[in-house]
Amino acid sequence: MAAERQSGQLLRVNGVDYVTEVDPRATLVDVLREQLGLTGTKKGCDRGECGACTVLLDGRRVLACMMLAVAASGWEVTTIEGLTSSDGGLHPVQREFLDNDAFQCGFCTPGQVMSATACIAEGHAGSDDEIREWMSGNICRCAAYPQIVSSVAKANGQIGAGTIAGIDVPVADEAGSTA
Ligand code: FES
Ligand code: FES
Repeated sequence: MAAERQSGQLLRVNGVDYVTEVDPRATLVDVLREQLGLTGTKKGCDRGECGACTVLLDGRRVLACMMLAVAASGWEVTTIEGLTSSDGGLHPVQREFLDNDAFQCGFCTPGQVMSATACIAEGHAGSDDEIREWMSGNICRCAAYPQIVSSVAKANGQIGAGTIAGIDVPVADEAGSTA
């Protein structure tokens, strides 16, 4: 069934309330892609191993292939489409990925970018080693890792911790954990 945009919500994605019938067995990645038409989120392994489907729930990273869509109701979902500004301008992480050639086939890239924005917002991008550790759930079969790490580090220097697309994100404490 085609999604209908209304006030009142079943799913709130990128600041838009969508009311649509959702099969209670459907995963968030399938509903985003197939019902809401938000195909920026990719489905790679479909079993929680690659990170290609990474989206944010109230600013926290989740794997959309491992979450039922109905469980996302009541949360603010942010996808790669939600990172660009209203005039179409790229988010600093997107810009750095482009400028640093941080992809080849690009299939992992939306998940990498979403994870990177959260990594920075959490305060987990203070060094290349820290970026590698906190981005380790995102696999790149093209092995663009050096450019990805460089892009995240450069974007971190521009935006720093605290918010993603206007959503407040818990910042890590000295031990590296977030509340
Ligand atoms: Fe979700 Fe691979 S598609 S982790
Ligand atoms: Fe091809 Fe990462 S750019 S999988």
